[in-house]
Amino acid sequence: MKNEFNRNELLRRVTESRISKGNERVRAITQRIVTDLFKTIEDFEVKPDEFWAAVQWLSRLGASGQAGLITAGLGFDRLLDILEDEADQRAGIASGTPRAIEGPLYIPGAPLSRYETRLDNGQMKGELFVMEGVVRDTNGNPLPDAMIDVWHANENGRYSHFDPSQEEFNLRRRITADAEGRYRFRSILPPGYAIPPNSPTSELFDLLGRHGNRPAHIHFLVSSAGRRALTTQINIPGDTFIDDDFAFATRDGLVVSLEKVDSAAGYESLDVSGPFTRIRFDFKLQPASSADEAKHIGRYERAAA
Ligand code: DHB
Ligand code: FE
Repeated sequence: MKNEFNRNELLRRVTESRISKGNERVRAITQRIVTDLFKTIEDFEVKPDEFWAAVQWLSRLGASGQAGLITAGLGFDRLLDILEDEADQRAGIASGTPRAIEGPLYIPGAPLSRYETRLDNGQMKGELFVMEGVVRDTNGNPLPDAMIDVWHANENGRYSHFDPSQEEFNLRRRITADAEGRYRFRSILPPGYAIPPNSPTSELFDLLGRHGNRPAHIHFLVSSAGRRALTTQINIPGDTFIDDDFAFATRDGLVVSLEKVDSAAGYESLDVSGPFTRIRFDFKLQPASSADEAKHIGRYERAAA
């Protein structure tokens, strides 16, 4: 009878059988997840049809490349930020610009300029703005040559690379700050973002009775030698979803103000003429405690390193 066993013995075999050491951490975490899922299936009396529908959904989710969209909507991205914030607080290094989730839509290697650049290709509809400021350390000293990666959505709330209708690196740029740590760029204010309709992601949020909207935002990855690379966003004020982000990523310290500027004097090199909207924002980077922390890389590259 040694191959006839109950669910507790099955769970024990699943979690304990091994032919080599494996990885202890992966083993322990998998054991916890499988144990909890066994219990969920039991407690909710999950039927085979429901279980296989869920597995099929996971397969479609993976095939669509949308796993990183689900994590934000289910709060995992913000959870990781909260845990890092708490660790910083405990270590007494809580200062600098708040972090905010990277989101799943960063692409490395955007076109690089020094000091200033234009993100839009002249075809995007909406309000022209210039964002400018200084990259600083937490004592307020400018960080010359700091690297700023910036990316945002187009007028339909879609991101280049993931949206085949946009040219490569549309609304994505890298800027190296000048000798005084200054940067500036012009673009068109993006609207909010919504998860792709008729997708594995939207199927889940429909079933949860949740919306999939993010308020208007602009993403940044900012780094400088010896500083901890900062992943953050700014929020554009006035959006209906500003306090109801499906990804829970709005942060009070990151809602900027929009300033109306009457004269384009001083902005000629950005081809601005006439009144425009300005956002001023300084980034403040914490000291890095390792060379690793200073690396200017996205979350997937970091995880693979
Ligand atoms: C998602 C999209 C974003 O643009 C973002 O910044 C964060 C999350 C998403 O679809 O999950
Ligand atoms: Fe985004």
